[in-house]
Amino acid sequence: MRTIVSLPGDGIGKTVLPEAIRVLEAAGFEANYLHGDIGWDFWIKEGNALPQRTIDLLAEHKIGLFGAITSKPKDEATKELSSELQDKGYVYFSPIVGLRQHFNLDICTRPCKAFKGNPLNFIRKDGKGGYEEPLVDAVVFRQNTEGMYGGIEWTNPPAQVREALETHPKMKKFKDVPSEEMAISTRIVSKNATYRIIKAAFEYAKKHGYSNVTVCEKPNVLRETSGMFLQTAREIAKDYPGIDLWDTNIDAQMMWLTKNPEVYGVIVSENMFADITSDGFAGLVGGLGFACSANVGDEVAVFEPTHGSAPKYQELNPSIVNPIAMILSACMMLDHIDESEKAEKIRKAIAAVIEEGKVKTYDMMKIRGGASAIDNGACTTQQMTDAIIAKL
Ligand code: NAI
Ligand code: MG
Repeated sequence: MRTIVSLPGDGIGKTVLPEAIRVLEAAGFEANYLHGDIGWDFWIKEGNALPQRTIDLLAEHKIGLFGAITSKPKDEATKELSSELQDKGYVYFSPIVGLRQHFNLDICTRPCKAFKGNPLNFIRKDGKGGYEEPLVDAVVFRQNTEGMYGGIEWTNPPAQVREALETHPKMKKFKDVPSEEMAISTRIVSKNATYRIIKAAFEYAKKHGYSNVTVCEKPNVLRETSGMFLQTAREIAKDYPGIDLWDTNIDAQMMWLTKNPEVYGVIVSENMFADITSDGFAGLVGGLGFACSANVGDEVAVFEPTHGSAPKYQELNPSIVNPIAMILSACMMLDHIDESEKAEKIRKAIAAVIEEGKVKTYDMMKIRGGASAIDNGACTTQQMTDAIIAKL
C-alpha cells in the first residue's frame, strides 16, 4: 500500500485536506496517511514552521498532500513566538517555500480548466445581444525555485554587492543613493532549471494533446533572464514538431486572457510571472476554490491547492469553504503516481456536481462568506464532498 504524507498545516488546510482524503478513499484509492507537522503552531512552539521530522518523513515517503499554511510579516511572526523562544534569533520563513527549496520541487503545474456550468466561468458578449462561454483549458508551468522569488535580496546591501553591481553601467544613476536607502531584489535564472521547466511544459503538451506552448515573459525588457527563457524554448521546440511555440509578454498576456483565453494551452514562465499568469487564468475558471497545483522534483512531490489558510473562516462550524481545489490537487497526486483512472473518475464526479448546479459552496454563488452563507443557500464543505462522493 502507498504511504502519503498528509500536511494539513493551518486554518482551512485542516478542513479541506480530510475532505480530499474522504474522496480518495471513496474512489477506491487505498493508502496509509502519515501526519506531518507543519505551519504556524510549530513556529510558535518550536521556532520552526517546517520541523526536521517533517522533512525526514517526506524524504522517506516522497509524496505529500498539503493543505495551507498561515504566514505573517517578520515582525508579527517574531512577536507571536512563545516566550521562551523570544530573542533567541529565530527567523520565520514560509514552510511551503522551504519545502520547494529543500527538495528542489522546481516544476510547478497549475491547471486552470473550466467545468461546464460553473457560474464563475469567464463569459463575454457574443455581439448578438447574448453571451458566450468559451471553455478555458490552460495549464501554467511555473519555475518554482529561482527567478524573482529566489530570495536573493537586500535592503542596505553589503559593500561587495554594491561594488559588483557597479560594474554595470546602468548602476551609475544610483551612485549617490546611500546603501541604507537602497533595496535590491534579484531575478536570477539558470539554464538548467529553465530547460527543465520548459521541457516539462512541452512533455505535458505532447502527452495531453495541447497544440501550443506559450512562453510568457518580457524579453524585450528583461533581455537576459526572459531572453534565456525564450532562447531555451526555441531550442526545445525543435523536438516537438506538432506543437506551436508562442511567446507573449506578461503584461499583454494579462490583457489577452480576458479577451480570448480559450486559445491558450500550456503556458510556461519564471516563478513570479507564472504566479501572476496562474492567478489570472484561475480567476477565469472559478478562482481560489478551484485552483490546484503540483510541486514536483526529481524525488519528492507535494500537491496543494493554491489558496491559503483563509483564517477568517477557520473557526466556522460547519465550514463553508470550497474543498474542490484541494480535491483536484489530490487528483494531480493520483496522476503523478499512475492512478490516473481514479483521478479521472473523481474529476468526472466533480464535473457532474457542478453541471447539475444543485450543491454550491458560497464562492460559487457570489454571496458573502461567513455563517450567513448557509442560510443564503450555500452548502457546507462537507456537503460538497458528500455530493462528489455520491457521483463516484
Ligand atoms: P487565502 O487564499 O487564504 O484567502 C483569500 C480569499 O479567498 C479569502 O476571502 C478566503 O476566504 C477565500 N478563500 C480561500 N480559499 C477558499 C476556499 N477553498 N473556498 C472558498 N473561499 C476561499 O489568502 P489570504 O487571505 O491572502 O491569506 C491568508 C493566509 O494564508 C496568510 O497567512 C497567507 O500568508 C497564507 N497563504 C498561504 C498559502 C499556502 O499555504 N500555499 C498561499 C496563500 C496565502
Ligand atoms: Mg499566488
